[in-house]
Amino acid sequence: MEKFDVVVLGAGAAGMMCAIEAGKRGRKVLIVDHAKAAGEKIRISGGGRCNFTNVGAAPANFLSANPKFCVSALRRYRPANFIDLVKKHGIAFHEKTLGQLFCDGSSKEIIAMLLDEMADAGVVLRLETAIQGVDQRGEGFVVELSSGPVACASLVVATGGKSIPKMGATGVGYDIARQFGLAIIEPRPALVPLTFEARTLERLSPLSGVSVDAVVASGKTKFREGMLFTHRGLSGPSILQISSYWREGGEITVDMAPGVDVFATLKAERAANGRRALHTVLGEIVPKRLAQKIVEDEAITGNIADCSDKVLARVASVVNAWTFKPVGSEGYRTAEVTLGGVDTDGLDSRSMEAKSVAGLYFIGEVVDVTGWLGGYNFQWAWASGWCAGQAV
Ligand code: FDA
Repeated sequence: MEKFDVVVLGAGAAGMMCAIEAGKRGRKVLIVDHAKAAGEKIRISGGGRCNFTNVGAAPANFLSANPKFCVSALRRYRPANFIDLVKKHGIAFHEKTLGQLFCDGSSKEIIAMLLDEMADAGVVLRLETAIQGVDQRGEGFVVELSSGPVACASLVVATGGKSIPKMGATGVGYDIARQFGLAIIEPRPALVPLTFEARTLERLSPLSGVSVDAVVASGKTKFREGMLFTHRGLSGPSILQISSYWREGGEITVDMAPGVDVFATLKAERAANGRRALHTVLGEIVPKRLAQKIVEDEAITGNIADCSDKVLARVASVVNAWTFKPVGSEGYRTAEVTLGGVDTDGLDSRSMEAKSVAGLYFIGEVVDVTGWLGGYNFQWAWASGWCAGQAV
């Protein structure tokens, strides 16, 4: 049987970072993946430009049943460490917005960088290789692979979450965790568009393609970013962000004119230019199609001078505090990440090793640590992968 010091399951962001670090420490490392290529999610990330980190990444940007778990790893491997690696490989990048760093060119440059680093560290990469089973044997593990069994002292599970099954996502990491008695925080799709029930969808369908700057809130959590009406419901960064916090049956409130007191603005316009149509005035605050739709839905005709305070207040509240209940989300088919995963109570926060199973590690998205949209999820993958790489 082939023997390795370390076997890493999953050649995604976290797995490759761990393999590099373990290889650099002189460990004999095998990394396997059932996909045809390594880092497929990196390739499609950030619209093909990979939002590879966020300069402001901090524990507050992550969701977990134990919000303190990620502190140690994020402190030990920071955005600056990954930026140094990117610079070492001469990859050009820029900050797009809100601390989000993207490649100027292509996300493939990040994959090439990781593959180069793995090759330099002597890591063996085996693609199109299925995981058929894992067993604890003596001091280590035996992994049944479609290419045959391999033995290792340390086994690292980096198989990601359930998001986008078409790209090779499976729940195998959760199965392995359960097999070894680790608890799972119920996974659910996150960073995902929200959907409406049929009647609302039909009513809002003329708005498909309209985007607005919005403050989107669920309970006390708020995000100010773009929001997009789609033929299924709502999408755009602010909706993806809030989807990680929203739960079935809950309300969402949207301010589609942040910082503008729409009621006061409409009243002032009525006093100054009463002969203008309400939808024309409103169209200077929100996109014209949206203004038209709001006025139509409220069945308002005539000039703004004909509108009472009550009517203007109603219109203003639709713009400044539109409240609705989504029926659900688009699910794992389009979710960028999976919330939940391996319960961090069972893991050591410095090394990512299972507390109850020496030599077994969980890193990246399979763990119950989920970042906001904006490069945070890759930073968690790099940081947790790096930490395990120092320990295996
Ligand atoms: P990842 O999913 O990357 O890797 C897991 C690997 O395990 C895969 O290669 C898979 O093939 C393999 N695997 C799974 N099951 C297996 C099995 N049974 N046998 C063998 N191999 C198996 N984040 C961010 O910070 N910035 C961004 O720009 C984006 N953009 C983005 C766009 C889209 C469309 C998606 C879907 C996601 C993002 N993300 C993102 C999220 C980011 O891609 C994600 O958080 C990381 O890839 C997680 O890294 P992991 O290594 O944990 O899992």
